[in-house]
Amino acid sequence: MTRCGIVRTFIADARRELIVSSGWRNVEATAIKDARALHEHFKALGETGDYGLERCGEIRELVEEIEELKVREDAIILAHNYQRPEIFEVADFVGDSLELARRGRDAEESTIVLCGVHFMAETAKILSPEKRVLIPDEKAGCSLAESADADELVARRDELRRVYPDLKVVSYVNTTAAVKAVTDVCCTSSNALEVVERVDSRNILFVPDENLAAWVARNTDKNIIAWNGNCYVHHQIRPEEIRKVREAIPDVRVVVHPECREDVLAEADAVLSTSGMIRYARETDATEFLIVTECGLSDRLLLEVPEKRFYKACQLCKYMKMITLEGTRDALVTGQDEILLSPEICDAARGALERMIELS
Ligand code: 13P
Ligand code: SF4
Repeated sequence: MTRCGIVRTFIADARRELIVSSGWRNVEATAIKDARALHEHFKALGETGDYGLERCGEIRELVEEIEELKVREDAIILAHNYQRPEIFEVADFVGDSLELARRGRDAEESTIVLCGVHFMAETAKILSPEKRVLIPDEKAGCSLAESADADELVARRDELRRVYPDLKVVSYVNTTAAVKAVTDVCCTSSNALEVVERVDSRNILFVPDENLAAWVARNTDKNIIAWNGNCYVHHQIRPEEIRKVREAIPDVRVVVHPECREDVLAEADAVLSTSGMIRYARETDATEFLIVTECGLSDRLLLEVPEKRFYKACQLCKYMKMITLEGTRDALVTGQDEILLSPEICDAARGALERMIELS
């Protein structure tokens, strides 16, 4: 099999060189691109998506409309790294979960539109209860967040505390507000190990990602007891796919998100959050990378001025892709879907998020 043939078996060749920006970005006010400029800009994506001239004309109109609505509604748009490329055209900030939590907390605007999944919007609401927080589609959930139920967590925690009286619950931010409300401290993919090391207990119930839990357990002396959840996007990636690419491209740097299975993480040169991957790609001398996470991250990289060569895993998160420009415009027009949480849940969940921000 040719080198390209092997790569295309499982991994779409990004076919582009990339310049990688910092992990997060504050998007500076720039002139709205016209349809032709958008069409040229999106050419960097190769065959991804529909960015013909007609669609780019529609995107331009939507971007203009959204920019006006942002002013009228005193709104800021925060977008996760996995979002559709056209969402980056209206985002004021793009980043990973931790960066979005921090940026949402510090926002001066009275409305936050969270272009990401539901738990990210809930996190913004918990940290800024006085603000209106909108998500363009409330069905944009997360398989990890769905896998942990607050009542079951309390039952498991209480059972374990009979054996380990010092046990603390560390929850990934990919959890519901109700789960955060019964959590001691939250973490994200970028600070999980740091949080676990700094929390004042030896025994930790780590919720809900079994893969992130296994990765943390391998890197700490603490006793990590894992919940049995996983991300359907990352959990389906297999080590053989990575080995095939390595065989074809021996110098390739393999960069893996910690939501991947343990046997996939064992193949990695670096295990990083989405924004950590971007920084790593920019800062290392290597020129070829295999990006093992949701495809949207590679799309962001493709757009940000090519310099290095990237190969990407072809995995899409159906929840992240529920967010569209049309939905974002409609959210600003109608005020839906608004994140509404009871003050009790909000107050109880805030401590776990604030402790995470303090510890990392
Ligand atoms: P990051 O915090 O690394 O962006 O991860 C969020 C996520 O949901 C990955 O699947
Ligand atoms: Fe959740 Fe996985 Fe989608 Fe991330 S990629 S939002 S963990 S389902």
